[in-house]
Amino acid sequence: MRLAKYLARAGVASRRHAEEIIRAGRVCVNGSIADQPQAQVKGNDTVTVDGELITEFEEKVYLLLHKPKGYISTVHDTHNRLTVMDLVKDVKKRLYPVGRLDSDTSGILLMTNDGDLANRLTHPSYEVKKVYLVHVNGIPGEEALMQLREGVVIEGRKTAPAGVRLIKQFTGTVKNEALLEITLIEGRKRQVKKMCEAVNHPVASLHREEFAGLKAGSVPEGAYRHLTDQEVSNIYRQVKL
Ligand code: URA
Repeated sequence: MRLAKYLARAGVASRRHAEEIIRAGRVCVNGSIADQPQAQVKGNDTVTVDGELITEFEEKVYLLLHKPKGYISTVHDTHNRLTVMDLVKDVKKRLYPVGRLDSDTSGILLMTNDGDLANRLTHPSYEVKKVYLVHVNGIPGEEALMQLREGVVIEGRKTAPAGVRLIKQFTGTVKNEALLEITLIEGRKRQVKKMCEAVNHPVASLHREEFAGLKAGSVPEGAYRHLTDQEVSNIYRQVKL
């Protein structure tokens, strides 16, 4: 099996992230650094990441984290900032976030050690649904809403059709803002902010309300809960695993 796939199966990281870990020289096979993701490993090889032995059959963990603003969605941060890992410290597994939320975005973030699932949930071809509550500056008119729905060009490529609803308008002398609900089936970097900027209604605040059919429900900000078996099977089905 390819080394990157082996690490993803073992729950170390998504396959893409596993390739980065390998290229960074953090992986050893039978005591020697293996920095090529396509290197082949067999069942009886000894694989370590950062010196820690990998066993192929790690129990899988699936968490729904209600991320507050002020935390970045990475496993390691070189600048000592707060990361989502600080919120799941008591889970003694090598978890990582499924996709990303910006530091100033709150809401649902799945955390797991299931590399295959994480890979698929973030792959655009599976069209996993994400619902955002978005406060934007100004009140978008029908034309701006239609543009958001039909797709706007960001970084040279048109966004996929999106669900967009104007939920509330706040008008007055101090505030001129609208609350939108935006439903996406892709997940490009900073997509919601870029889409809203493209129609001249910059985002004032962003919250992810739903991911793959899961909502925070009674989980308070900063806390997490384990998914039920039924929820896990349901998201597996959504990505055809
Ligand atoms: N879109 C954004 O712009 N930011 C996020 O955090 C998520 C989606």
